[in-house]
Amino acid sequence: MTSPALDVLDTVLDKAVLPGYSAVGIRLRQRWWPADPPEDALVGRRVVVTGASGGLGEAAALELVRLGATVHLVGRTAERLRDAAGRLRAAVPGAAVQEDVCDVSDLAAVRAYAERLRGAHETLDGLVHGAGVMPAERTESAQGHEATLATHVLGPLLLTRELAPLLERSDDARVVVVSSGGMYTAPLDAKIADDLQYRQGSYDGVRAYARTKRLQVVLAEELAAELTSAGVAVHSMHPGWADTPGITDSLPRFARLIGPVLRTPAEGADTIVWLVAAPGPGRRTGLFWCDRRPRPTAYLPGRGEDRDARRRAWAACDAAVRTGS
Ligand SMILES: NC(=O)c1ccc[n+]([C@@H]2O[C@H](COP(=O)([O-])OP(=O)(O)OC[C@H]3O[C@@H](n4cnc5c(N)ncnc54)[C@H](OP(=O)(O)O)[C@@H]3O)[C@@H](O)[C@H]2O)c1
Repeated sequence: MTSPALDVLDTVLDKAVLPGYSAVGIRLRQRWWPADPPEDALVGRRVVVTGASGGLGEAAALELVRLGATVHLVGRTAERLRDAAGRLRAAVPGAAVQEDVCDVSDLAAVRAYAERLRGAHETLDGLVHGAGVMPAERTESAQGHEATLATHVLGPLLLTRELAPLLERSDDARVVVVSSGGMYTAPLDAKIADDLQYRQGSYDGVRAYARTKRLQVVLAEELAAELTSAGVAVHSMHPGWADTPGITDSLPRFARLIGPVLRTPAEGADTIVWLVAAPGPGRRTGLFWCDRRPRPTAYLPGRGEDRDARRRAWAACDAAVRTGS
């Protein structure tokens, strides 16, 4: 159901941030948002979910399995993946889940993982980039890239390209990049483009997170353009604020403050699942979503991206994954 009045209410919720991002926003929007995917939407479909050993990735994997998908759970540690797979099998008897260890910040590991998948499967129908980090201190990936850049941008870029041959063989492939509303606080300007590796000034994990969450929106737009002719839809989205270790461990004070109105992990994962499984999102590509609706990527003039900064930032990310260094 939709009407001009509901459109206005939905937008007001979004712009007011706290009500829109909290459980209040999603529970109101559920009254008018687009239909759920059909119950058998993903029968016979294969989906890779990174960051699936907990939090939103696990919650998304659970719903994808319920819709019939075979789901590859990707994370850095075998034990955490085993635990997550056990929880999914307990919740959905017969769940088709596979545990795949891969550190997506490590470009060599990503290449090796994609090669294994290409060797084992013909087709991939969904790829969810859910892996996320907010390090307290500046750390580097195996190839020497700053950790949030490597995890949120470089790894997903490389993994998508490496898996493109499988995605292209699907008749309705979807890629979902899980960004964050925090990206609104980080316009893509020359300062970010000139210091993608966050070497200048004192490191702030929350800033690094927000900057790379902004870059993830660019990533989805660029990949959408690259893969349009192959029939692969690419979306970015933000989940609002959900009760996961990503919030409670990384931002404990914030989590305590808004604890009572945090979304459940399933609510946070809702739009991820909907973008993979519902009919509508397969016909659109390159947009930024929250609560089953496209959202602006900037609300105020000058708070989005500078065109030249974007071009340079993207060229640097592209070069990093092409050279593998
Ligand atoms: N929760 C929220 O309210 C919220 C809000 C905005 C955006 N998000 C985004 O949603 C995504 C999931 O967040 P979350 O809150 O569920 O976080 P979380 O609870 O911390 O889970 C993050 C997951 O990512 C995995 N991971 C981290 N680095 C990885 C790597 N290099 N390779 C493979 N897996 C890796 C972790 O698994 P291992 O440690 O086992 O490897 C874990 O399963 C993130 O991208 C986050 O930015 C969340």
